[in-house]
Amino acid sequence: DEKALAELVVGHVVDVPDFPHAGILFKDITPLFADGPAFRQVVDGVVDHHGRSSFDVVAGVEARGFLLAGAIGYATGAGVLAVRKAGKLPREVLAASYELEYGQATLELHRDAIEPGQRVLVVDDVLATGGTAEATLALIERAGGIVTGFSVLIELAFLNGRDRLAQRDVHALLTV
Ligand code: PRP
Repeated sequence: DEKALAELVVGHVVDVPDFPHAGILFKDITPLFADGPAFRQVVDGVVDHHGRSSFDVVAGVEARGFLLAGAIGYATGAGVLAVRKAGKLPREVLAASYELEYGQATLELHRDAIEPGQRVLVVDDVLATGGTAEATLALIERAGGIVTGFSVLIELAFLNGRDRLAQRDVHALLTV
């Protein structure tokens, strides 16, 4: 159930102070990815939350979102879309920029990555300010897709990222 999944995430997160900058408490979820049974439960938990019939393809956000999306895309047979940092994709792209604490970041998606009306489940490891998620949703919609679900392992609720994703089914296995 949801409570067991939250505890599973809690038990596999390492809090790292002052990474990548002083004052940031980084949530390192690599131990969760490395624990086979725990990783499988998390992947199944995300799919069960949304329901396999609710999406046609899974989008992962570089880089840790790729690990989750790859597993979900394989387990469900849905396949995976790569939402990448600027300059990595080789063909024509759509781009969306968002504000970071200092400066800007840009995410890209191949312009022809999505069939018109295709239903997309978006996954990432952490929802913080929501800038990454907001840009990802915009890219998928501009490419002609419909975002039918959004899941993260951890939501940092005090940063209010959810507010930027109004009217979305935002699902977090663990909220802190
Ligand atoms: C982290 C995390 C999310 C994003 C969340 O990625 O994996 O994608 O930040 O932050 P936000 O809600 O404030 O936008 P990061 O930029 O560190 O990229 P990486 O996974 O490639 O290290």
